Amino acid sequence: MTIPINLFEYESKAKQHLSQMALDYYISGAGDELTLGYNRAAFERYQLRPRMLVDVSQRDLSTSIFGQPLSLPILIAPTAFHCLAHPEGELATAKAAAELETVMVLSTMSTKSLELVAGVKKNVPQWFQLYIHRDRALTRALVERAEAAGFSALCLTVDAPLLGRREKDRRNQFTLPPGMELANLTAIADLAIPKTAGESGLFTYFAQQIDPGITWKDLEWLQSLTKLPVVVKGILRGDDAQKALEHGARGVIVSNHGGRQLDGAIASLDALPEVVAAVGDKAEVLVDGGIRRGTDILKALALGAKAVLVGRPVLWGLAVGGEAGVRHVLELLRDELDLAMALSGCATVQDIDPSLIIDSNR
Ligand SMILES: Cc1cc2nc3c(=O)[nH]c(=O)nc-3n(C[C@H](O)[C@H](O)[C@H](O)COP(=O)(O)O)c2cc1C
Repeated sequence: MTIPINLFEYESKAKQHLSQMALDYYISGAGDELTLGYNRAAFERYQLRPRMLVDVSQRDLSTSIFGQPLSLPILIAPTAFHCLAHPEGELATAKAAAELETVMVLSTMSTKSLELVAGVKKNVPQWFQLYIHRDRALTRALVERAEAAGFSALCLTVDAPLLGRREKDRRNQFTLPPGMELANLTAIADLAIPKTAGESGLFTYFAQQIDPGITWKDLEWLQSLTKLPVVVKGILRGDDAQKALEHGARGVIVSNHGGRQLDGAIASLDALPEVVAAVGDKAEVLVDGGIRRGTDILKALALGAKAVLVGRPVLWGLAVGGEAGVRHVLELLRDELDLAMALSGCATVQDIDPSLIIDSNR
C-alpha cells in the first residue's frame, strides 16, 4: 500500500504491523462495542453551516491551555503500552508531539519511563495521566516523579475503577510480551501485568492494584500532593463536571475512554454540550473519542471544546512508521482542520462557534 492519506488508511495499514494480541488490545471496545460505535456516529450526525466571504487567507490553529501555548488544538490522548506498536514506544510518540508543538499525555501504564519521556520534550508541555493505585505511597511517588521530571499537568482518569471487559483481550489472555514492562512501576514496586487463565491480565491488574474506592475527596488529596493543575478525564455529565471544579480540578476531559469502559455509555460528543454549559468559562473542557477527521475537530470545537485528544490513530501511526508515522497522523489531522476552517469561514480557532453546526436529529 502507498503512504496513507487519512487516518482510516493508517488503521488498515497498522493491522499488517501488529501482533494479533496487540491489535486486539488497541482496537477493542468493551462488551458489544456499542459506545465505540456511538462515538463515530455522533460526529456523523452533526452537519456544518459554513460561513462565506470571510477572509481566510491567513489561518491560525494555535491555542493555549492553562496558559501553555499549543500550535494546534489536538493533543495525544494517554494510551498504554506503546512498545507493542514500535520498539521506541512512547519516546517516538513524544518526539512527534514535540515536533508538532503539542501535548502528549503520558499514560501511567507506559512502556518507557516517565523520566525518559520527559527527556525528549523540547519547549513543549507534557502531561502525565494518573491511575490511583490502592498503594497510596506508590501513587504519591508517581505524582512526585512526574512533577520532578517537568510534566506540566496531571490528568486523573476517573472512569476506570475496574477495567471494562474487552472480550478479545479476555480470549487472548492479554499480557505483555517478554522484555516489555510497566516502566513507571517496576522502578518503585514489583508490579507486572500477570498472565491470567481465561482472563485479560490487564483486567486482573486493575482488579488487584487500582483503587475502586476513590471519590471526589481523593481529587482533593491528589491536589494536596502537587502544585500542577489537575484535569479530570472521563466525565460524561454536567453535574460531575461541576463537582470536579468544586473539588479543585482546573479542567475536564469529556471521554468514555474510547468506548472501552462502560458499554452503552453516551458518545463523548453528545455529552459535551451539557458539560460545557455546566463549566462555562471556569475551566478548560476537552473531549476525546472517535476523532478521525479535521471536520470532527471543527465540530467538537463548535460545541465548546477547547481542544481534542486522539487515541488509537496515534497508535496506528506508531505501528506503521514510528515517530514519522505519529507525526504524519498529526499532520493529516492538522491539515484537514486547516482546510475545514478555511471552508467554513474560520481564520482562527476562536472563530469556531456553535452557529457552525446543527444536530441533524433535532
Ligand atoms: C489502546 C488504548 C489504551 C488506552 N490506555 C489508556 C490509559 O492508560 N489511560 C487513560 O486514561 N486512557 C487510556 N485510553 C483511553 C484514551 O485516553 C482515549 O480516551 C481514547 O482512546 C479516545 O478515543 P479514540 O481512541 O477513539 O481516539 C486508552 C485507549 C486505547 C485505545
